[in-house]
Amino acid sequence: MPLTAGADDALRDAPVPDAEALRRQDPQIADVLDGEARRQGDCLQLIAAENFTSPAVLAALGSRLANKYAEGYPGRRYHGGCEYADAAERIAVERARALFGADHANVQPHSGSSAVLAAYAALLRPGDTVLAMGLGHGGHLTHGSPTNFSGRWFDFVPYGVHAESGLVDLDEVRALARRHRPKAVVCGSISYPRHLDHAAFRAIADEVGAALIVDASHPMGLVAGGAAPNPVPYADVVCATTHKVLRGPRGGMLLCGAELAERIDRAVFPFTQGGAQMHTIAAKAVAFGEAATPAFAAYAHQVVANARVLAGELALRGLPVTTGGTDTHLVTADPGPLGVDGRTARTRLAVAGIVLDTCALPYGAGRGLRLGTAAVTTQGMGAAEMETVATLFAEALGSDAAARAVRPRTRELAGRFPPYRG
Ligand SMILES: Cc1ncc(COP(=O)(O)O)c(C=O)c1O
Repeated sequence: MPLTAGADDALRDAPVPDAEALRRQDPQIADVLDGEARRQGDCLQLIAAENFTSPAVLAALGSRLANKYAEGYPGRRYHGGCEYADAAERIAVERARALFGADHANVQPHSGSSAVLAAYAALLRPGDTVLAMGLGHGGHLTHGSPTNFSGRWFDFVPYGVHAESGLVDLDEVRALARRHRPKAVVCGSISYPRHLDHAAFRAIADEVGAALIVDASHPMGLVAGGAAPNPVPYADVVCATTHKVLRGPRGGMLLCGAELAERIDRAVFPFTQGGAQMHTIAAKAVAFGEAATPAFAAYAHQVVANARVLAGELALRGLPVTTGGTDTHLVTADPGPLGVDGRTARTRLAVAGIVLDTCALPYGAGRGLRLGTAAVTTQGMGAAEMETVATLFAEALGSDAAARAVRPRTRELAGRFPPYRG
């Protein structure tokens, strides 16, 4: 149905959210959404940065707070009618502070990248030197990529991981800090499977008078569940995404001490963002509430247990896993010894119904594979299923025909663990 005035009226009359109303009005997009729901349910989702949010989080995302403009902060808005927006944001902030033990939380960043941008805006000036993990070793685009604002506006010095162990080389980090005297040190990665030593990074930053920014986008959900060390006591600013293991809506957040609270808030709005997305902030509040429960703590520990089993089983099947294992939800592996490069491996795995990413291999010629257990653990899979996943994984890498032959088995496995009921 075209979007006419009449359709508009029908839209306003419809219950909200209403999948049937969407199908009646826009079957093309309804088909797309149905297709995506099917895709999520009948493949194995091993993308390390993805998860399945709860129906309650989805309900908040699809709520009428999506209609609300709320530039500013609770009690200090540029728009009228913000009483419920204010309530949502206050609840989200309080829950984030309590969950992570932070003096101050800003829950407005639209994404992890927006959170990092705001942290830089609060602490740095263009042209300042920043020490961060190099992109080829696991740094994020916002850690100095020349294709990103970070690499364009700041002078990044990269540190890396040790050639043999794959572990962050703290001696190198210290030596680079002494040589370059950065204004900030960034501690965080998109693919490092071990815990980063926040205390050691704090000591290095202190020695050279730098600020410490921890980009905990990946482990933040594990931190919430007590399955990874909390960076808050060590960092000047913690940046994170609210999706990934934390299982909230796509978005970002910032945590800091009281002394930086105002600078961080001003760096988000009005410096780097406009109006906050209030439906997303309500959904963040819901996710923080969920993450504070014993059930979530059990989930976070199961995520790590599953990743450890998966890493061990992949290694047994001839895929070397970087650092020899994992402490987190993340596993990075080199498919090279199985005679297949990272891109071909990802394609074959996709044919087999196993969805994941490639990643840089710090010292390898080709690309590696990055996978994570956040989503499959939400579905209820455990150690036995991780063993099966590793078997299917290794078989699918064998050839294009083998990958096709695996597909019914991944469908059967995923089908036994639906991410949503009904
Ligand atoms: C370490 C790190 N920083 C920043 C980001 C950026 O998050 P977003 O994609 O929400 O901008 C990510 C996302 O994967 C990340 O892993």
